[in-house]
Amino acid sequence: MTEKSPGRNEPDQPSASELETFRRTILDYYRAHGRQLPWRETYDPYAILVSEIMLQQTQVDRVRDKYREFLAVFPGFSELAAAELSQVLTLWQGLGYNRRAVSLRLCARAVVARFQGALPCEPGELEALPGIGPYTARAVAAFAFARPTGFIETNIRSVFIHHFFPDREKKVLDREILPLVELTLDRREPRDWYYALMDYGAMLKKSGANPGRKSAHHARQSPFRGSNREQRSLILKAILALPGIPQEKIIDDVAAEIGAIDRNLRQLEKEGFIRQECGRFWVC
Ligand code: ADE
Repeated sequence: MTEKSPGRNEPDQPSASELETFRRTILDYYRAHGRQLPWRETYDPYAILVSEIMLQQTQVDRVRDKYREFLAVFPGFSELAAAELSQVLTLWQGLGYNRRAVSLRLCARAVVARFQGALPCEPGELEALPGIGPYTARAVAAFAFARPTGFIETNIRSVFIHHFFPDREKKVLDREILPLVELTLDRREPRDWYYALMDYGAMLKKSGANPGRKSAHHARQSPFRGSNREQRSLILKAILALPGIPQEKIIDDVAAEIGAIDRNLRQLEKEGFIRQECGRFWVC
């Protein structure tokens, strides 16, 4: 049996006119409905990095206010590098995934120590910094330094699957999408094109289409309520509110099973979030 051909809507290499239609669709939508977001109004690499770290696992609407608050208190790498962890975590409350705050501060320290406070512009150098993965490195390189580098995140993935793999039954791999991202990239001004893709992808998701489900890399975020993540964040909240808090008071505040709280306290200590002395707890 011969292998099934890719089919008209799943081109190895889309034609010039298909690419043009694709570009026009995305840019027309962006012109009419593009989101105005504070981190899109700056070229400051620090501010852009902060926004990308915050946006990794948190919705845009939640990030908007936190981003402004965070920059008002820590306007640059040196201020963040010098901050107490408890101050950073207090500001981070409400965003979740506190490990991001810990590594963002570590990253600021590395930028100050290794690069005199100036973020490097190449994805390879960025990726070597704490807390910066392949996506964030490329996004920051494109948004802050106009590096025409290809990358994929949830919304971008949805757009390419929607347009180029509409009839696909088996899961779409990122390595099938990346060549199309590279092919369509605006090499002169990459960031507006990426913003446009992200906004189109967000619209697809809102419309209920959610083509991201057809991705081999699709991962649904597990619910926060009742999760261990929620318990960890309640424990941290209790310690931040009352430095030196005794374990019994944490148990009262969190109101969960003692064994689970005990395990989380030990884990948070091991991860460098908190320290303990004689049954009392502080954020590091
Ligand atoms: N604008 C810039 N980066 C973004 C992101 N990660 N999500 C949504 N909008 C953005």
